[in-house]
Amino acid sequence: MTEIVAFEVRKNRLAETRLARKVAPELQDGQAMIKVDRFAFTANNVTYGVVGERIGYWKFFPAGGSDENAGGEDARGDWGIIPVWGFGDVVASRCADLPAGERLYGYWPMASHLVMTPAKVGDARLFDGAAHRQELPPVYNSYARVRNEPGYDPAMDDERMTLFPLYATSFCLYDFFKDNDWFGAERIIIPSASSKTAIGTAYAVRTDPDPRPMIALTSPRNKPAVEALKLYDDVLSYDEIDALDAGRRSAIIDMSGNGAVLGRLHRRLGDNMTYTANVGLTHYDANAMGPDVIRERSAMFFAPGHIQKRAKDWGPGEFEKRAFAFWRDAAVKSRDWLAIRTGAGAEAISSAYQEVLKGDTPADAAWALRF
Ligand SMILES: NC(=O)c1ccc[n+]([C@@H]2O[C@H](COP(=O)([O-])OP(=O)(O)OC[C@H]3O[C@@H](n4cnc5c(N)ncnc54)[C@H](OP(=O)(O)O)[C@@H]3O)[C@@H](O)[C@H]2O)c1
Repeated sequence: MTEIVAFEVRKNRLAETRLARKVAPELQDGQAMIKVDRFAFTANNVTYGVVGERIGYWKFFPAGGSDENAGGEDARGDWGIIPVWGFGDVVASRCADLPAGERLYGYWPMASHLVMTPAKVGDARLFDGAAHRQELPPVYNSYARVRNEPGYDPAMDDERMTLFPLYATSFCLYDFFKDNDWFGAERIIIPSASSKTAIGTAYAVRTDPDPRPMIALTSPRNKPAVEALKLYDDVLSYDEIDALDAGRRSAIIDMSGNGAVLGRLHRRLGDNMTYTANVGLTHYDANAMGPDVIRERSAMFFAPGHIQKRAKDWGPGEFEKRAFAFWRDAAVKSRDWLAIRTGAGAEAISSAYQEVLKGDTPADAAWALRF
């Protein structure tokens, strides 16, 4: 009998958490039981919780509490499970195409196990065909069969689960800006420049033969770490926005979602703010957008949408190939500054979760966790 342990959060008060336990259901024909081996946790995962309702992130791995506590507040769906990227091992299977012993990279619940229904099983990839996931973006339902990958290096597992989802987004952002002729901008301004997605974007822009200069915006406490990267052309803290030269045409790649920061930037730049890509929400508790935000030249950027577009433009597998090559190079460079901290067990998961939620994890660190 397998017990499944899940780390659940209250959807509208993310600091409140609980552990939910249940006995794993008996596998049905075609299903497989995956033990989640390890997963990464960064601000990106917090954002999944912040926009869980709006974008549908709560739908991937419904909280189990309602089974045990039917009719109570759980029945109204107050609790949810935040998705994470990582590795899982098939420990039992009633799916002929996916025997026990396989190892998968992909999207998991913050839980000890996942029962999945492998579908479209190819040598390189498969999908979770569970009915409730089918309306959700395919990027999140796709799993890599890592043992079939040429050159699969388990020594890079922690870097892959930490950085691949973020640097793949960075690669998309570079591709999108380049494809749009940098939106006519002479330079790029990046709020929350200390985030890994921002740093990956800086690596990607620097691969361009004619890159645009990049200005980092960050909090005073992260400024030294961002300067030490030597990746951006200038580094300012949020309270130095008024020192920005307003005469240059500028595009913004925003990871912060901070309404006050964007308002001040847009007011200062005026007509010279050519485009803002709203990518992230690291400052999730400051996201009210005021009247200074230039909405007509701002748009949400959603990496899974861009990946789907490139799958059509470039053919199947090509995006993954290019993004993977970029990630691998950038991950090796990131060894100069990134410290991956590890934690095991429910307590370690809970304390890492609270630390990341509060923004207390240093910019040069990330968490690799396991139950
Ligand atoms: N749209 C998409 O498709 C897409 C895809 C991937 C990622 N993203 C988004 O990109 C953002 C960055 O994710 P990441 O995993 O790369 O982040 P990360 O590396 O964990 O970022 C850490 C940085 O975020 C800021 N921060 C984090 N928590 C904070 C808090 N509670 N209060 C204030 N500042 C806080 C700080 O930066 P500063 O001090 O520099 O502000 C901190 O150094 C996330 O919002 C994520 O959802 C979006």
